[in-house]
Amino acid sequence: MRIKTLAPASIALCLGFSAALAAEPQVERQAGMKAIGGAMGTLAAMAKEQKPFDAEAVKTALTTISNAAKAFPDQFPVGSESGHDTEASPKIWENPSDFRAKALKLSADADAVLASAPTDVAAVATAMKTLGAECGQCHQTYRLKR
Ligand code: HEC
Repeated sequence: MRIKTLAPASIALCLGFSAALAAEPQVERQAGMKAIGGAMGTLAAMAKEQKPFDAEAVKTALTTISNAAKAFPDQFPVGSESGHDTEASPKIWENPSDFRAKALKLSADADAVLASAPTDVAAVATAMKTLGAECGQCHQTYRLKR
């Protein structure tokens, strides 16, 4: 009988917990990075000619990168240094302005490619090189290797 009276309370607790999870900055920024990774995957498949050139898909991928990178530096509030298996390095909180600049550069460079509207595979490959280098540059300093 005890279980019966306990159940509604624990269900409510679980629901509350998952709602809180969705709003956690660690989860949000990881989702943003996953979206960026997916978008880069789309561009890479075209650059390697595994998929046909698709101007609309290029536009969507670049917009995803730009938006997620723009939101990214604000997703590191004090208190989110750990938890949710975060790979964020403590250096982010030591050099917030450099970290922000790197994220905003990725966003601005994605916007610049968007503005130039790549019309073929070669243009996508060039854009990949520019944007791809920025991933590694930031990860090297600000993402922990697990
Ligand atoms: C301004 C710095 C910065 C730039 C630029 C950057 N990243 Fe990241 N990335 C991070 C940090 C920090 C994390 C770890 C976030 C965490 O776990 O809280 C991360 C995590 C990731 C993850 C793992 C997400 C997860 O938890 O599943 C992927 C995938 C990723 N980045 C891809 C990319 C790609 C692709 C690019 C380039 C187009 C890129 N990143 C550019 C800082 C950056």
